[in-house]
Amino acid sequence: MESILRSRPPIYNREEREKLREASRFNAQLMDYVRPHVKAGITTDEINTLVHDYTLQHGHVPATLGYKGYPKSCCTSINEVVCHGIPDDTVLQEGDIINVDITSIVNGWYGDQSETFLIGEVSETARRLVQVTFDCLFASIHALTPNCKVYDIGKAIYDYVKPTGFSIVREFQGHGLGRNFHQDPGIPHYPEKYAQRDVLRPGTCFTIEPMINEGLFGTEVDPRDGWTARTIDRKLTAQFEHTILMTEEGPEILTLTKEGPQEGHIF
Ligand code: MF3
Ligand code: CO
Ligand code: CO
Repeated sequence: MESILRSRPPIYNREEREKLREASRFNAQLMDYVRPHVKAGITTDEINTLVHDYTLQHGHVPATLGYKGYPKSCCTSINEVVCHGIPDDTVLQEGDIINVDITSIVNGWYGDQSETFLIGEVSETARRLVQVTFDCLFASIHALTPNCKVYDIGKAIYDYVKPTGFSIVREFQGHGLGRNFHQDPGIPHYPEKYAQRDVLRPGTCFTIEPMINEGLFGTEVDPRDGWTARTIDRKLTAQFEHTILMTEEGPEILTLTKEGPQEGHIF
């Protein structure tokens, strides 16, 4: 019933696809700019300032600033924070893992991506969690073919993560994007029955952004700020995100640059 009512995601034409590529290319260059700064001793507010200033200097707009009341220009999620961590005066410490999630609006079009960084020497569990999270994103990208099902993404992630003993977050999903931050289709990162009906037609643009937990899959949002989502058991969590355009030839990862971690990267 619900899926009958679900609106169809927009199918982008040649000109629109070029706009999407431009937005994601800028966002990825911004990630390239930020990456070397994500080290022990920097505060998450300082990371936010780097993102904010670079975006404005290039004439673009940080998508998260003011989005549903979100107060900053990126999300910085440390250790047990699953997503939507708000930059503040917290100093990154050796042994932390931190996800930096950046979204830009370029001429009205959105690009969205995130990476998890290891700060200095981290525990073997943390390293392995980050590795599995990165690898499961690429496993799901390999499952993409023109007109495949959204379901295939969650299935590929599940098949990859299950044997590791880690768990997949269910309360946050990937999403369609284009001239909106979040639109259809919703992209569950685990096998959801309803996602068998959603077809990824050439011209569809969406994110895949698995959040993988060391322990239980459950999350809770901090009632004090309404944003910061933590694992319910306060164990570690990691995430990677790319914006992807389905084309007639297969998936195109729009937020990849030469400087960023490539498929097969060893953390
Ligand atoms: N960038 C996040 C995503 O991948 C959304 C952040 S919304 C915010 O969908 F308001 F928390 F910033
Ligand atoms: Co994001
Ligand atoms: Co996203």
